[in-house]
Amino acid sequence: MVAFTLNGGDVSLEIDPQTPLLWALRDNLGLTGTKFGCGMGLCGACTVHLDGAAVRSCSLPLAAVAGKAVTTIEGLGGEHPLQRAWVEHNVPQCGYCQSGQIMSAAALLAANPAPDEANIRQAMAGNLCRCGTYHKVQRAILSVAAVAHWEPAVEGEA
Ligand code: FES
Ligand code: FES
Repeated sequence: MVAFTLNGGDVSLEIDPQTPLLWALRDNLGLTGTKFGCGMGLCGACTVHLDGAAVRSCSLPLAAVAGKAVTTIEGLGGEHPLQRAWVEHNVPQCGYCQSGQIMSAAALLAANPAPDEANIRQAMAGNLCRCGTYHKVQRAILSVAAVAHWEPAVEGEA
């Protein structure tokens, strides 16, 4: 059995601990906001937070999250400043990569609330978008970074 915290609640799964976290989230826990892209840690579509840091859930065995806190796009709650900025700046096109983009951006802002363009480019470099929304992603992140006060949506994330 693997027990961990998911979006602020306790969960435990009795499945093979080598199962990729992405599979557990989507198939066992029904959280389909996190997407499968490459399955090899190369595209960022599957990005979630592990103890507040952005990780690729396709490449992380469930065993690695035991006793830790996982946050998915669902855990941001829909009213996170980044989610509002995404709507305001009309960021998504097909949308497939966007939950991963937002989760990487949220981890960046939690670690550095006032990133500059170079910081953003570096933090987001592993999140690919076949629709080319990179400039809109950057503008949306900068718009949130410019706001003096915002709070993480999930308690325990800082
Ligand atoms: S699906 Fe995980 S990095 Fe591409
Ligand atoms: S919005 Fe289509 S892949 Fe990014």
